[in-house]
Amino acid sequence: MRTQTDNKSFANKVFLRRQATQHLPELRVLDLFAGQNVLWQNIPSARYYGVEILPEKGANLNADAHQAIESLDLAAFNVIDCDTYGIPFALCRKLLQNPAVQPGTVILYTAICSVYTRVPNDCLALFGLQDLYPHAPGLFNRHAVSFFFDMLGKLGVCEHRYYTTHDSYKKHYGYFIKP
Ligand SMILES: C[S@@+](CC[C@H](N)C(=O)[O-])C[C@H]1O[C@@H](n2cnc3c(N)ncnc32)[C@H](O)[C@@H]1O
Repeated sequence: MRTQTDNKSFANKVFLRRQATQHLPELRVLDLFAGQNVLWQNIPSARYYGVEILPEKGANLNADAHQAIESLDLAAFNVIDCDTYGIPFALCRKLLQNPAVQPGTVILYTAICSVYTRVPNDCLALFGLQDLYPHAPGLFNRHAVSFFFDMLGKLGVCEHRYYTTHDSYKKHYGYFIKP
């Protein structure tokens, strides 16, 4: 039987997750965009907790990830997965700024952008681009991931790995360690 997934690069994503967590003695995974829970199903973990906005997809808490992180005990996890369709700018910023997220927590992300994908509002505000952006959105859209990486640096991230694929979208798959 074939498992349906949202991924075009399922094997690479699983490989990245194994690589990112290989140093941890046990995994306690908060999967914030869990879908059908396929990314972590073959990676042994002491705890797995999925969050997914659509009810029919898997065994998950059905909630918006942005709201879920406000109420979950984030200290209970040492791996947080943000496998989004866009750029998880606000989410990763909140995770980095939240003292409940323990130093050493592995935060995985997917960040996808193109000339047509809007730069997140949180990003525009942080970099003071709200007024300029409407005049040339395409100029900024293509660089949205650079802003995301800059934000990680500003918040003290120094351990960060990713790879990039190119088709009509630029897709960045990576992880960083909460300092
Ligand atoms: C790129 S897919 C990844 C799914 C899963 N990780 C996988 O590999 O199959 C993104 C998932 O996030 C869900 N999603 C979109 N927005 C969300 C939100 N705000 N909060 C929680 N889940 C969301 C989508 O329904 C979709 O299942």
